[in-house]
Amino acid sequence: MNAVRILVHAPGAPGLRWLGLGPGFRPTRGLWKLQRLLDQHTFWARGRSRAQLRRMLAGSAAVVSLWRGQRLVGFGRASSDGVFRGVLWDVVVPDDLQGQGLGRLLVEALLQSPPLRDLERVYLMTTNSAGFYRQLGFAQAPDQRLMLKTAALPSGCPSRWPAGRSSSPDCS
Ligand SMILES: CC(C)(COP(=O)(O)OP(=O)(O)OC[C@H]1O[C@@H](n2cnc3c(N)ncnc32)[C@H](O)[C@@H]1OP(=O)(O)O)[C@@H](O)C(=O)NCCC(=O)NCCS
Repeated sequence: MNAVRILVHAPGAPGLRWLGLGPGFRPTRGLWKLQRLLDQHTFWARGRSRAQLRRMLAGSAAVVSLWRGQRLVGFGRASSDGVFRGVLWDVVVPDDLQGQGLGRLLVEALLQSPPLRDLERVYLMTTNSAGFYRQLGFAQAPDQRLMLKTAALPSGCPSRWPAGRSSSPDCS
């Protein structure tokens, strides 16, 4: 079986964004694979178009992807000001490969990437994976509340959403 390769992309991930580059800087239809990974293995990032994903990558300070051969086996990204604050987003490993340490590899690579490694604080929001992040040194913020301002959702957005989550801010 192929070893897992970790790609720490340049800010904005231009190679992945424009050319779909994967390991070895080879074209692998990476953007299409990212779209499929998010569609099939997340509940908050389904239905994002490739044009939206390009804009999302362009606006991300840190982007990490994991590859086994030509298969995209993990993805995560973060926003960061480089000094004080950063936020992790869209961390995902396919269902059939979870529990093998890929998620840990992914988040550690993000945290060690230049835009995040010197930050005072790294934030994240999670629905079901607090235990996973606890193992990586995160703790529930004791005195802070998550505040949201939600943009008007495109029509049909809630219907893609599991019951009880129709008001999620991540429905995009
Ligand atoms: C959360 C996710 C990225 C974890 O990736 P993974 O490859 O399964 O995680 P790992 O195998 O590296 O797990 C590392 C450790 O965290 C634990 N862990 C993993 N997911 C967990 C969860 N949801 N709750 C509690 N602990 C968890 C593992 O048991 C493992 O512990 P161990 O080292 O004692 O064996 C993956 O399950 C996933 O993509 N889930 C769906 C998308 C998602 O919810 N992403 C998080 C968005 S905030």
